[in-house]
Amino acid sequence: MALRLPKQDYQDIERIIEFDFVRATEAAALNSLRWLGRGDKEAADAAASDAIRGMFDLMNICGEVVIGEGIKDEAPGIFKGEQLGTWYPGSPEFHIAIDPIDGTTNISKGAPNSISCIAAASPEEGVKVALRDIPSFYMSKLAYGPRVIEYMKKRGDSLHLDMPIAEMLAIVARAVDKRVQDVAVMMLDRPRHKEIVEQIRASGASLRMIGDGDIAAAIAPSLPEPDVDLYMGIGGSPEAVLAAAAIKCLGGDMQSRMWPRDEKERKSLIAEGWEKDLDRVYVTDDLANGQNIIFCATGISDSALLPGVRARGGVTAITHSILMRAKSKTVRFIRARHDLQMKTIRLRSDNREHIL
Ligand code: FBP
Repeated sequence: MALRLPKQDYQDIERIIEFDFVRATEAAALNSLRWLGRGDKEAADAAASDAIRGMFDLMNICGEVVIGEGIKDEAPGIFKGEQLGTWYPGSPEFHIAIDPIDGTTNISKGAPNSISCIAAASPEEGVKVALRDIPSFYMSKLAYGPRVIEYMKKRGDSLHLDMPIAEMLAIVARAVDKRVQDVAVMMLDRPRHKEIVEQIRASGASLRMIGDGDIAAAIAPSLPEPDVDLYMGIGGSPEAVLAAAAIKCLGGDMQSRMWPRDEKERKSLIAEGWEKDLDRVYVTDDLANGQNIIFCATGISDSALLPGVRARGGVTAITHSILMRAKSKTVRFIRARHDLQMKTIRLRSDNREHIL
């Protein structure tokens, strides 16, 4: 008779649960797809959130949203303080940062650059706050990949948020072994970036402006074979934390600093006790701290991070996701084929499984 191994307790629960996080972002992508190009970003966000909540209702975890949709939105989405999971007593705890859709406007226009993503942190000795909730609306960000970090370590050069753009681009060019004119910089297309845009153009580097969705954009330079070398500019603070969790798993880095929109926001941050942090440059470890961190995202429309959903006439849909852990640094690219005649998605709104 074959010798049986003793029953195993799941010591490392993240290894099992992580696949359900991907199911949640896949469900969000699939359920929001019908809103692509329909001019209704709230409906898309509501559909994604409904599917995510529905999937979490099937997960025995005690999940607490510590970073939800940006304070900038009136979105119908998932906000800080919400509990996700069954909260069955004794279930593993997770702090969750979530963006059911980053790039809701893109979806409403049928434009590229929308993803659904989640970062989750389980309790870890010595880590008080794994996913840091930044109080400002926006942060100034500078994200780069492992090749740049390696180069900086070897050569003693270093990038800094405030350094002259030309110098910064020269370092990145040397690090990725390109001419400056071949260095691709991604940035949100916003009037507030006018000066940086002029400086990037003057240096000769190549700009990739995006309408919305800077989580994917900030992660992109850290991918194993990136199409962009640098992400910079001012974008949402919750988005910075989600990007930091992913960048950390990929071995890249992101510098970021609070960027109050106006004097009123600056004063209110100071009044709330944030004065000493206003000039602080956070690196990825400051926003996503510790090793017990999972990140996953599914593409809705094509981005520099992931292809979007490929739907084939209501018969099949292909989703593309990335799933990674800070602890093991395993990076999984998951291409899933969904049979739309068989597949169901559970929605929280009516607690039922739905054919798409
Ligand atoms: P939403 O999908 O939540 O609308 O966010 C899209 C986004 O482009 C983020 O990716 C980015 O961080 C932020 O908005 C930028 O804010 P703003 O549109 O105000 O410049």
